[in-house]
This record gives sequence, C-alpha cells and structure tokens, in this order.
Amino acid sequence: MTAAPVVLLATCAEVADLDADSRALADALRARGADVRPAVWDAEVDWAAADLVVVRSTWDYVPRREEYLAWAARVAAVTRLENPPDLLRWSTDKAYLEDLRAAGLPVVPSAVLAPGDGGDHPFLGVEHVVKPTVSAGSKDTLRLGADAEGARRSADHVLALHAEGRTALVQPYLAAVDDDGETAVVCADGEVVHAVRKGPLLERGGGRVEGLFAEENISARTAAEAELEVARAALDVVRGRTGRAPLYARVDLLPSEDGPVLLELELAEPSLFLDVTPGAADAVAAAVLRRVAG
Ligand SMILES: Nc1ncnc2c1ncn2[C@@H]1O[C@H](COP(=O)(O)OP(=O)(O)O)[C@@H](O)[C@H]1O
Ligand SMILES: [Mg+2]
Repeated sequence: MTAAPVVLLATCAEVADLDADSRALADALRARGADVRPAVWDAEVDWAAADLVVVRSTWDYVPRREEYLAWAARVAAVTRLENPPDLLRWSTDKAYLEDLRAAGLPVVPSAVLAPGDGGDHPFLGVEHVVKPTVSAGSKDTLRLGADAEGARRSADHVLALHAEGRTALVQPYLAAVDDDGETAVVCADGEVVHAVRKGPLLERGGGRVEGLFAEENISARTAAEAELEVARAALDVVRGRTGRAPLYARVDLLPSEDGPVLLELELAEPSLFLDVTPGAADAVAAAVLRRVAG
C-alpha cells in the first residue's frame, strides 16, 4: 500500500489554523485520503517532507515580498510548490495587468506611478482608486472623488506610497460595482470551479482598511458567459507563460458598460470561497491530488 500523500497548506501566523476556505479544502483532501496540515510560511517547517505545498492564506507577505519569493524558491527546490514561484512573482505585482492588456484582455484602465514619477495622473478629475501595485486585502487602497479634495488626497496618497518605496496603481472607479458587485471566477487546473459575488469594498471618500484584509460580503453567483470568456482568456495567458494551467486561479471582474473587465488575476494567495458553493472544495481537492501525481 502506498502512503497517503502529504499536502501542506501554506498560511500566515495570523491564520495559523487556516480560514474557513482552506479548512474546507483540507477536509475535502482528507476525504480523498491525503495527509493534510497547515504550515506557516515563515516558520520552521520541514517542507521537503511534503509531496506538495499549496500556497493559501499567506497574506502577510506584502511588506516583505522579496523574502516571501525567496521562501517560495527554497520550497520549490525541495518539493513541488503550487502555484510555482515564477507565477507567484508575476501575480503579486499588479504591473501584470499591462501584460494582460497587451494580450488583448479587457482590463480596468490603469496608470502605474513609480517612485520619482510624482503624484500627477490621468484620472484626477474623475472618481478613482489609488492602490499599491503590491497589495492584498484592499490595504492602502483609497477611493477618491472627482473634486479638488479628491485630487489633493490622491496626490498625497501616491506620494506617501512613493515615500515608502512603493509603486502606485491608479484606476478610474468603476461605479457599477456599487450595484452589481464584483465577480470572482475560481478555477482549478484550467477548469472553472465556481463563481461568487463580492459586494463593493471601498467607501466613498477613502476610508482605510485596518487588519489583514477588508471584510467581504460574499455569495454564490452564476458567472455570465462573457465573464467566463475573460476568465478563460486569462488562463490562456498563464498557460502561455508556464506551459500548463495553474493549479488554482481567481479571476476578479468588475462590471462596465462594455462588459466585464478584469480587476485582478490572483495566482498567489486568493481566497477560493470553497466554503460557499457545495462541491467546490472537492473539485479543487481533486485537482490538488492530480498535481501530486504529476
Ligand atoms: N477600479 C476600481 N473600481 C471599483 N472598485 C475597485 C477598483 N479597484 C479596486 N476596487 C475595490 O477595491 C477592492 C480591492 O482592490 P483590488 O484591486 O482587488 O486589490 P486587492 O484585493 O489586491 O487588495 C476590490 O475588491 C474592489 O471592491
Ligand atoms: Mg482583490
């Protein structure tokens, strides 16, 4: 008899025992016979003892991304890590949005302002969002008005990010999210598993998120065909980079007059909302165990 495959779910110290999403995945993996344990990414862990390490709730990497990517490279040198380090690097800097736009995907219009570029940008004068290019959980993300006050606070926030050595990403605020919410399409091994609706997260006038992430209002949703098309096109871009579908991916879409536009392609540490839709956790567990096998 062969031993049960050992799967480590990488998390961060603040959620050392996993969140409801990853607990659902762990339960589904155990039901399929795997030996599953959570493992805090920056703790002492025998990563080599795992057949597979799946990156999950490692949300505290933002202020130390290089340390995190170095960890990923070390783990990938001794066992299989999914998603692999090159995808983690690409996906944790929202500069990838330009790659997706260049590949022909509908992407939220975006301007990237690196330190030294100043605080001026093309979206002053419309309601807009300023966020760091390396961010998670809506931290340091502000929704700012079209008025002079919004413009002043916008430039201040861009310059404050620059002062921390961070690059800013500026986008028009796509206001249809206020009524229709955001759609997250969750994929495993290149197949759509399920979709959820996320309510709007940013308060008008730029309230800041405290803690590890913003509280999200999530419900199951059937994705529209146009949304599935964008999600599949995003997976095609990943396949073009690595030669295979990512183990997991979440494609976040905002509604617009011209159809769904991509806000994020999450390949690093997305919540997959596996506790929301019956059967979703088992579908991802099956994909995980296929990766263990090869
Ligand atoms: N351009 C935008 N228009 C409308 N809402 C936005 C926009 N950018 C961000 N948001 C809101 O802020 C949240 C966080 O932004 P996002 O780009 O997903 O960064 P992250 O999740 O990595 O922090 C989104 O889920 C959405 O509710
Ligand atoms: Mg997001």
